[in-house]
Amino acid sequence: MKLPVKIFLIGFMGSGKSTLAKKLANRINYSFLDLDEEIERIEKRSVAEIFEKEGESYFRELETNLLNKLKTFETNQVIALGGGTPCFNNNMELIHQIGFSVYLKYNSGILANRLLNSKTKRPLITNKNQEELKAFIDFLLQEREQFYLKANLIIEGTNITAKQVIDLLFQNIEQ
Ligand code: S3P
Repeated sequence: MKLPVKIFLIGFMGSGKSTLAKKLANRINYSFLDLDEEIERIEKRSVAEIFEKEGESYFRELETNLLNKLKTFETNQVIALGGGTPCFNNNMELIHQIGFSVYLKYNSGILANRLLNSKTKRPLITNKNQEELKAFIDFLLQEREQFYLKANLIIEGTNITAKQVIDLLFQNIEQ
């Protein structure tokens, strides 16, 4: 039984995609890629700066371009996508042409708490208090879940370990 060459972790901001992707990659001996970090490396500026200077559509184009590039790389990779990546430009289709997707599913209350405690600068949620943040997440999650729910594997709940993800992956990949 073989794991897919590319495994994508998707989900809302604050769902722990990068942390888990890194651990998962380590365990299965894949390389790790964080789409936001790769964009920052290529553009030589932060995601926040790209949003501010060029606007969101420009950033969404960068995401899709980079996904398209991944198509041509044979390397085994676990890839943490940005929270919005699956929701634009038919990216979910593209993701499934390239590999296998895992949605880390959390409710808005948990996401709000996690995001309030996070140090990462996220342009879509700057300057929001807990109440505003929760309302914003409710609104955006409702819009985005239709894309996230197309994932090959949906994992609900907190404190999921890389080991559990691997077990679920093996149970869910087609032979
Ligand atoms: C975004 C999520 C961010 C980053 C950008 C936009 C979104 O990634 O791509 O700020 O639209 O949800 P994380 O999910 O890693 O925070």
